[in-house]
Parts: sequence; structure tokens; C-alpha cells
Amino acid sequence: MKTFPKNFLWGTATSAPQSEGHSLQNDKSATTWDYWFQNNPEKFHENQGPEHTSNIYEMYQEDCQRMKEIGLNSFRTSISWARLLPDGKHVNQEAVTFYRDYFEHILAAGVQPIINLFHFDMPMWLMEKGGWESREAVDAFAFYAKTAFELFGDLIDQWTTFNEPIVHIECGYLNGAHYPAVHDFKKTVQVGYHTLMAHVYAVKAFREVKPKGSIGIILNITPAYARSAEQADQKAKENADLLTMKSFLDPAVKGLIPQALVQLIKKHGLTPETNASDKDVIKENTVDFIGLNYYQPLRVQAPVHPRFPAQDPEDLYAPYDWPEKRINPYRGWEIYPKAIYDVAMMMKNEYDNFPWYVSENGMGVANEERFMNEQGMIQDDYRIDFMKEHLDYLYQGIQEGSNCFGYHTWTFIDCWSWLNGYRNRYGFYRLELDNHFKRRLKKSGLWYKEVSQNNGY
Ligand code: NOJ
Repeated sequence: MKTFPKNFLWGTATSAPQSEGHSLQNDKSATTWDYWFQNNPEKFHENQGPEHTSNIYEMYQEDCQRMKEIGLNSFRTSISWARLLPDGKHVNQEAVTFYRDYFEHILAAGVQPIINLFHFDMPMWLMEKGGWESREAVDAFAFYAKTAFELFGDLIDQWTTFNEPIVHIECGYLNGAHYPAVHDFKKTVQVGYHTLMAHVYAVKAFREVKPKGSIGIILNITPAYARSAEQADQKAKENADLLTMKSFLDPAVKGLIPQALVQLIKKHGLTPETNASDKDVIKENTVDFIGLNYYQPLRVQAPVHPRFPAQDPEDLYAPYDWPEKRINPYRGWEIYPKAIYDVAMMMKNEYDNFPWYVSENGMGVANEERFMNEQGMIQDDYRIDFMKEHLDYLYQGIQEGSNCFGYHTWTFIDCWSWLNGYRNRYGFYRLELDNHFKRRLKKSGLWYKEVSQNNGY
């Protein structure tokens, strides 16, 4: 039996834009997702947009019972900025009532809520002013964060500022998967810098408001593994880790931007505009804990024809197709559970054993209805195996002293996933879109309950 540390968090994660529904109702204003869907529905898998998410807005009371049913002791979701502050200034009272009641029901179910502030959902009014390209977004986010701490601080023990900031930066300004879908490396760095400052100023607001509890940030971790031990491949790995991982991890935990990253960016003419006091604010506002989302690693090699100055991250590290990689046959991502152990050791050895948890890990499956038995239950043994393999490595990391306090899967109820709509299902509950959002427990949910109740397996 593998027993995890006392008070270990066994939970799941989701986000407001992917689960609430009611995306243009109850005085919520539009986000870039609402806008994009209204104007380009064909971009979205099967034309499913953000109003078709799993309807937690109406169903949260019964869903909190479901949290109990699968033994969760913690649960992460986010607040929708555009719902709480539709114009960025005035509080929407209906949103306050909804969130307070939702959080109170989570607590009453014996579940610890972890509340995140930004999950890719930029309000449209702010996007029209430049979004994260504009320094104004930093102040706007700090105001939103302060408002949320004041309104809900009595209920929440763990807050996080951003979910996977690298994703909205990269997808919005390099690879086209998020609005505004531009491709501009210099803008990407500026957007990244403003996002970092927004995070730091939100932490500052937290320290000033002084609600109970602690604050962190959730980062997607894609540890880079180099093609070979050759110097050029190792350099590619170092560049990848600096850009995708340390760019947020170091400022959040250590209060500084790594010098090697500053040099790299400078060398390529990408240095962003900054304010003179930023360095001090970064230094003074480190977090209390880190959440790391892990799905798959990055395999990298030295770029074959690097451009100088770089116009794209691939000029600094190129993808490498590792011939031995194991692929999830139902979704197409690499499965490499050992990375979770490597990350655990990195947190121990390079970040002074800073407290962290696995804030997302999970297996997406397309056409999952094919695994439904006659009783209507998805027999997702593949997902149980996936979790077990990752937990085995996490356990090993914890045994060797890594300060990990929890494991969250993505996700609770199958949810809408941006341009992919409902293509890949991840939940412990299957969502039936054509049947009034009916939720059906999957086999993995029963397994997770046992694990949580036994604090191990
Ligand atoms: C990470 C993100 O936080 C979430 O929004 C997304 O749907 C899942 N991974 C699955 O790809």
C-alpha cells in the first residue's frame, strides 16, 4: 500500500469559463472566447461555444453532492472576471450571490475550495484596450484580485492568481489557438511580462487585504528532455526550460527573473517595456505555494536553421520526435509519467523544497462513449492506469522528500475545452450534452473515491 502524507489533497480542477455556462447571462459581460465564438463559430469543434459548458451555474448544489460521491477533499475552479466585474469597475451583485453560495456549498460538502482568478478568460472590454499587451491590464487585474479577496476572503483558504499563464501568452501571440491569434515573438514577450506583473501585483493586493489563507500560482510544466548530451541540444533544453518553466517559476518562488532569461531575450532584441520599480515588487511578492499542471514533457533538440534574432521560440529550441515515445492512443499526447518524479526532485533540489501540488494531471479521450457498458457507465480503466502510473512516480518523489501536498486531476465533469469543444473527455463524470447536461459517473470516479478515502492505494 502506498500511503500519502497526512492531509494530502485529493481533488479535481476545472475553470469558470469551461464549466459555468450562462456565459452571456446574469449580467456577465463577454470574454474573448464569447466574442470569438460569436464571430467565428466554425473555428470551434462541432460549433460548440462557451455557452455550452457544463452548466454548473445552475447545477452547483447537486454537483457539490457529486464531489462527496467521489470522495474529493479539495476542488479547484476559478472566478470569472467578466462576471464579477462586467465593466472592470462595478461589482455584479448577482455574481457575488452565486459565488458565495457555490463556495459555501463546496465547503458544506467537506471539500476545500482552491480559487483561481484567471483561466484564459480575458474580458472583451479590456481586450479592446490591448489586453495583456497593455500595461493597463496589470492595474485592472490587481483591482479585480483585490475585489475578489475582499468579497470572498472569509471563505477561501487557498487562492491562485493565474492558471497556465504560458498558455494564453503562447496561444494568443504565437500559435493562433487563442484570440487575438497573432504571431509576433516580441509581443509575446511583452504580454508575458505584463502577465507576470499582473500576478505579482495580485499577490501584493493579497498581502495588503490580508484575507485568511495563502496564495499561489498554477503553472503548466513541460520539462524539456534533450535529444542528446551534445552541447547544442543541451543549450536547447536550457532555453526551453527558461522560456516555458522558469520564466514564471523563478519570479513566483525566488522573487527574480533568471539572468540567463534576461540575457537571452536581450540578445534577440525582445526586451519588454518595464517600470523602474518592477524588480522590487517582484522581489517582495513571492507566493506561498505552487501548483504544477503536468500532462506531457517537451522533447527538444538544437534548431537546424536558427534565425537571429529569433522570430519564434523554435529558433531557440526545436521540437524533437523521440522515437521511443508512448502516445495516448485516444487523444495523441505523449504519456511520460516519470517526469512527475523529475519535477518533484526539481522542486526539492532547485527550489529549496518549496511547497507544491499537482494541480492538474489527466487523460483526454475522444469518442469515449465507445467504452460505455450496458448500465451506462464508462469503463475507463485506461484512465485509472494513467493516474496510478503518475501517482507511483509522485509517491517516489514524496518518499525522497519532495514537499508535495496534493494531487488534482483534470477534471470533475467532462468540460468544454476551448477550440476543441467536447472532443476530448477528461472527467470522472460523463456529460451528456443532448440530455439536459446529465452527469454519469465513470468507473474512474469510484476508483478515485477509494484512493482518497484510504489516502493511497
Ligand atoms: C489545462 C488547462 O488548464 C485546461 O483549461 C485544459 O482544458 C486542460 N489542460 C486540458 O487540456
